[in-house]
Amino acid sequence: MHRRITGQLVIATHNPGKLAEMRELLAPYGIAAISAGELGLAEPEETGDSFQANARIKAVAAANASGLPAFADDSGLCVDALDGAPGIHSARWAGPSKDFLAAMTRIERLLQERGATTPDKRKAHFVSALCVAWPDGHVEEVEARVDGTLVWPPRGTAGFGYDPAFLPDGHQRTFGEMTSIEKHGLPPLGLGLSHRARAFVKLAEICLEPR
Ligand code: IMP
Repeated sequence: MHRRITGQLVIATHNPGKLAEMRELLAPYGIAAISAGELGLAEPEETGDSFQANARIKAVAAANASGLPAFADDSGLCVDALDGAPGIHSARWAGPSKDFLAAMTRIERLLQERGATTPDKRKAHFVSALCVAWPDGHVEEVEARVDGTLVWPPRGTAGFGYDPAFLPDGHQRTFGEMTSIEKHGLPPLGLGLSHRARAFVKLAEICLEPR
């Protein structure tokens, strides 16, 4: 049986960008969200071997520490020609200085080394795993992806992370060239295009009721 989210929810992130985006997604459902950072909760180590496992680690830790239901996500970029790398290590590839141009350059070098110069050999997808955990141990989990192709050089200055190198299938502009509403917005405002928006729609179907 799926469980609905009611009342207060902890957003298990210390990342202000993700927090803002999650608050925007939850607002239409009347959910009051407080962040793990605002509650002073420690950040658990992401020791899982999948996006879903890491989302669960973050959500369960925040639910146990706060006594409230907690919502976490884990996401990343998987490149087919690199056997799914950087995958769950997407943030790590940018290093402590969060240099995503360096991370995109590393991917491009590896693609060139493998002769992946045509679009059909440069397929990639973003994944978003979401988990809501309750203090009594119940969890709800969903995962979604958006497929695309990696372009070089990167295009656009919007978004974050690997956005400028990612051209979603069926579109002419990279995520770095799209507005946040185009990339993440849910219908009727946006296309619900991104992995996170798609995962959120799945979660809303099972756990949320519009006001
Ligand atoms: P997380 O905080 O462990 O989920 O790390 C996710 C990492 O994946 C981010 O730091 C980005 O590098 C990458 N990533 C996830 N979603 C996106 C996106 O929508 N655009 C660009 N990069 C993303």
